[in-house]
Amino acid sequence: MSRWLLAYDGYDPDWEGVREALCTLGNGYFATRGAQPEATADGVHYPGTYVAGCYDRLASRVAGHTVVNEDLVNAPNWLPLTVRIEDGPWLRLAALAAGDGALLAHRQELDLRRGVLTRLLRFADAAGRVTRMAQRRFVSMDDPHLAALETTLVPENWSGRMEVRSAIDGRVTNSGVARYRLLNGSHLVPDGEGPHGHEAVWLSCRTATSRIGIAVAARTRVDAAAERRTHDERGWIGQDMTVRAQESVPVTVEKVVALFTTRDRAIGEPAEAARTRVDRAGTFDELLERHVPAWDRLWHRSQLDVDREDVQRVLNLHTFHLLQTVSVHTVELDVGVPARGLHGEAYRGHVFWDELFVLPFLTLRFPEIARALLLYRWRRLPEARRAARREGHRGAMYPWQSGADGREETQRLHLNPRSGRWLPDHSHLQRHVGLAIAYNVWRFYEATGDAEFLAEYGAEMLLEIARFFADLAVHNKKGDRYEIRGVMGPDEYHDGYPGRDEPGLDNNVYTNVLAVWVLCRALDVLALLPADSREGLRERLGLTGEEITRMRDVSRRMRVVFHDGVLSQFEGYADLEELDWDGYRRRYGDIRRLDRILEAEGDTPNRYRASKQPDVLMLFYLLSRQELDSVLTRLGYPPGPDLIERTIAYYLPRTSHGSTLSAVVHAWLMARVDGDEAWEFFLESLRGDIEDRQRGTTAEGIHLGAMAGTLNLVQRCYAGISTQGPVLHLDPRLPTGLGHVRLGLRYRGHWGIDVTCSRDRLRVALRPGVASPIEVACDPDRVTIEPGGSWETPLADGRLPARHA
Ligand code: BGC
Repeated sequence: MSRWLLAYDGYDPDWEGVREALCTLGNGYFATRGAQPEATADGVHYPGTYVAGCYDRLASRVAGHTVVNEDLVNAPNWLPLTVRIEDGPWLRLAALAAGDGALLAHRQELDLRRGVLTRLLRFADAAGRVTRMAQRRFVSMDDPHLAALETTLVPENWSGRMEVRSAIDGRVTNSGVARYRLLNGSHLVPDGEGPHGHEAVWLSCRTATSRIGIAVAARTRVDAAAERRTHDERGWIGQDMTVRAQESVPVTVEKVVALFTTRDRAIGEPAEAARTRVDRAGTFDELLERHVPAWDRLWHRSQLDVDREDVQRVLNLHTFHLLQTVSVHTVELDVGVPARGLHGEAYRGHVFWDELFVLPFLTLRFPEIARALLLYRWRRLPEARRAARREGHRGAMYPWQSGADGREETQRLHLNPRSGRWLPDHSHLQRHVGLAIAYNVWRFYEATGDAEFLAEYGAEMLLEIARFFADLAVHNKKGDRYEIRGVMGPDEYHDGYPGRDEPGLDNNVYTNVLAVWVLCRALDVLALLPADSREGLRERLGLTGEEITRMRDVSRRMRVVFHDGVLSQFEGYADLEELDWDGYRRRYGDIRRLDRILEAEGDTPNRYRASKQPDVLMLFYLLSRQELDSVLTRLGYPPGPDLIERTIAYYLPRTSHGSTLSAVVHAWLMARVDGDEAWEFFLESLRGDIEDRQRGTTAEGIHLGAMAGTLNLVQRCYAGISTQGPVLHLDPRLPTGLGHVRLGLRYRGHWGIDVTCSRDRLRVALRPGVASPIEVACDPDRVTIEPGGSWETPLADGRLPARHA
């Protein structure tokens, strides 16, 4: 199969949701799932269209409680297009598959390079009339407000009356995730609809409480004489076109759609903007002619090649979905990274810490997108400050789940589908999300050298986050150490101590150590800013000398807990019981969601040394060995040899990999110790969505962090790229499965750097026309490459360690 093609044959209701998510088309402004145009939400199909940053908040009653949730809104469905012959039933795949007529052939092809989804369908109706249908669609990467669907119908053995219905459906709700169906999902309030000229219709609505106006206009053209009738009901409008079809003569129907919201700039009113845009839009082919080069430009900036076709295809799929969620069109929007893309409704479109996995790829290719995503956080500093103040702290406390205005959006109750019980959800105690934001700010600055960003926005975020953690830390009983109590680490299985009423854990080592690293970076920033910006910022923040002294003090005396010669996930971890992993695997097979299994048994993961995903180990993923050593040494806990290896070996068998992020992080961790196992984890992270490894979650939206994480692995782990300062560092180590890796990068204003590594050679070339030379280091060498020049060096040890080395 080609590296640019995702293809599906046949029709399998059980996989339809996965196909829809993976065949989603989008442009960073909006995205539409790859649902069949004739389908409605019926438990098998789920058409969904999501506009970046378009959230709405609704209250629901569950389990005797009123809960309020903010959702990324399912916008009006622009896809509906269906057909019927004579007065027969409207086309429905399920009906054909069930024997009401016959489904003769069905194929879907997603062309990743061009961003075009093609569908080929051949079917017979109950009277034996055979029709061939070909559909092509795209969501324009050229004009972010446009999408187009072209349908060609060929009657193979009949002539007669054919009706085509093209509609816009504003009656959709948010009902794509079964677990949330008890919650109120009616976000759209119809606002008006009507015909527009001869060929178009429009529909406008408002979100229930955020009152965002959303409007869609659709222009449908038929290349045959057609009688046209417009119908509308509140929240739905369509046109039926009746055609005299002739045997073997194709009929082509072209639907061009424009979508606008009140959040858009440079428009008057969204419905008017949508109508005007479809009036002015060219034909399907003309729009396609502009869409494809727009994708070409993105691919040109996203080069990441490996010499294995199967791996390359999935890497391309992951790049494709990343760039459909956040693209050049995102730069002007005020949006974050929704954990499940714009591809489904899981996690309600919320923004977690997953940009940690997304930014490294973007920073070295699309720094303007990375910067825009960081600004989403900066704009929500006032809300994060308010949250900190409410808890009695200074600085900024970012929410674990963020949406429109940056308040905490984490649900307080969640459903365990295995037990049917609604349970308290304490995951908002993952205060470490703020540390991830500070970490991203610093890494962005290191990689881009963007001093203006740092001075204007980055420093403020870093300082406010550091300030919060310095304030959150309290003296221990002896008074010689600081502690952070009552939080959760990334491992969501542990949210408290068995037998303690208060949720939260003390001295989560990931939080404590990363907090120290962030405090050190905050102190660095103060030293780095020009005196006038520093003083201006300190004055604006009211940051006193005592606070800075406190930051320094906490950064030297934070508590770190160890047991059995390894870092302890949190204080008291050593007192927990060991889980009978083999027994649970035997009994349940898939124990990825061990938390749900245990809860359904009346037990809790809080009793066991069992993690959902890397927690302590995230430190080794984020910090270099030298950085970690320096933090631990600063704290008076010199790490000694092999602490990292021992700690990895300790936690890996105690992890159930209940998050798709787990395989990504382990692929990186194992690369230090066992190249073969690292490769297995890498393959597992590639399979996450394309094979729906978590069984059922991909249909609810892709796992964007894990997808981007695989790209980051190629870049950071295999090519060994690190960007601390003006020198581009490389330390290539290829896994057994790969013979070479090629990357195209932008780095500190240099937009054309080509890196090629094989097991025994590294080559770095600077494209001609690049403004200035670049410094590159690959131990022990350090060279300067001139524009148009290149450097090549043999590698003594360009492979990951083998298992039995
Ligand atoms: C993981 C989190 C992640 C979230 C969104 C959860 O399952 O535990 O670490 O941020 O999914 O991707």
